[in-house]
Amino acid sequence: MSQEEPHHSTFPGAAEEVRDFYDRYPYPRPIDSLEKYRRLWQERPRRRADYHLFWPARSYREDHSILIAGCGTSQAAKHALRWPAAQVTGIDFSATSVRCTEELKRKYDLSNLKIHQLPIERVSELGTTFDQIVCTGVLHHLADPDAGLKALRGVLKPDGAMHLMVYAPYGRTGIYMLQEFCRRLGIQATDEGIRDLIAALGSLPPGHPLEPLLRESPDFGHEAALADALLHPQDRAYSVPQLFDFIKRGGLTFGRWVKQAPYTPHCGVIAKIPQASRMSQLPLEEQYAAVELFRGTMVRHSAIVYRNDFPGEPQWVGFSGDAWLGYVPIRMSDTLWVQERLPGGAAAVLINQTHTDRDLFMPIDSSEKCLFDAIDGNRSIGDIVERPLPSSQRKSQLDLARSFFERLWWYDQVVFHVSLQPRGNISPAEGDR
Ligand SMILES: C[S@@+](CC[C@H](N)C(=O)[O-])C[C@H]1O[C@@H](n2cnc3c(N)ncnc32)[C@H](O)[C@@H]1O
Repeated sequence: MSQEEPHHSTFPGAAEEVRDFYDRYPYPRPIDSLEKYRRLWQERPRRRADYHLFWPARSYREDHSILIAGCGTSQAAKHALRWPAAQVTGIDFSATSVRCTEELKRKYDLSNLKIHQLPIERVSELGTTFDQIVCTGVLHHLADPDAGLKALRGVLKPDGAMHLMVYAPYGRTGIYMLQEFCRRLGIQATDEGIRDLIAALGSLPPGHPLEPLLRESPDFGHEAALADALLHPQDRAYSVPQLFDFIKRGGLTFGRWVKQAPYTPHCGVIAKIPQASRMSQLPLEEQYAAVELFRGTMVRHSAIVYRNDFPGEPQWVGFSGDAWLGYVPIRMSDTLWVQERLPGGAAAVLINQTHTDRDLFMPIDSSEKCLFDAIDGNRSIGDIVERPLPSSQRKSQLDLARSFFERLWWYDQVVFHVSLQPRGNISPAEGDR
């Protein structure tokens, strides 16, 4: 397929207005250096944790095929840099996005990257299927998101995994109010319209629902990001129940949230409210829906989904039975532990720095810290709990370990390699070296 073509008129089914918008205001802001990103992903444990987030039950490999659907200006190049042994394909219907990606490809000599100017709706024309599909910040801009998701499912291998990110409604209330404001006044996505809008936002009254987003979103001051949020010609959002319906209609099944602590009644302040145990008795989907309403601030949902005909064992992590003893915990990147200003009885507090909710920290006591310190990315939980714990421990070691490792997992502190071996180490070739 030619990388220069096709032209505008050859995009039946794709929204011309949206493409024109991204040609003028490419997103994210074009960058010319990926050095920081390259350094970050040179760490093998980071790549391994990322891999097992998608496939807990698969052996680690780096040569998978990846489609970045609606890749924008840099996402496909980043993935090609992150996974040098993988074959990465980026598609986007905006010529500007394709050009920016091609520049990065040349600059970083990314021979494992192919880039096509192609609408998602026509992705089957690539004539190939993928182990992994990443589609973030795109489907909610399509005229028919269901058609887009089904097209992507059509090129996902049966045992593949998809990272899907779509907008969430409640935290975006202020954005939708300002979108409506702009519509009523006929404000367009032009340089002048954006400049005037930035000036007006400086006078937004305190307490306006947009205020926290303006304060906390680092790239909101940047024109393309502001246009992307407030002047987008087409954008919709999915509440948790709407997202689950969307996934099901697309012939897919929900695997997990990319970050799951914000969605569960087991973590943070929600675990302490009087309704917490009532919430925990609900089916998982309803728990997530209730927590979304209670938190009220979510602006996006990032989920990992699989085909609904995924062959063999699904990629579930569970703690009933005793299979969990064979799980190999792998620390997630961007986590840290602190030992200052600790709550009573805590030996440390675990934090995942990518959480935006400040209440999602996990205090651990001294017995739990022994277990935590023993996580090396190679040993299974079974091996770890064979180490003696302080005799003052009242609960049985196994009960303690089960609930601790489950909590670590809910708190996004670890992912698991769900080793098929019942107990014991995974092979040295598999683990972190
Ligand atoms: C908000 S940007 C997200 C970019 C990238 N996925 C990221 O997360 O950084 C949306 C991108 O999707 C592209 N896009 C929107 N609708 C599309 C469609 N129907 N087919 C292909 N690309 C599309 C736009 O051109 C734009 O580059």
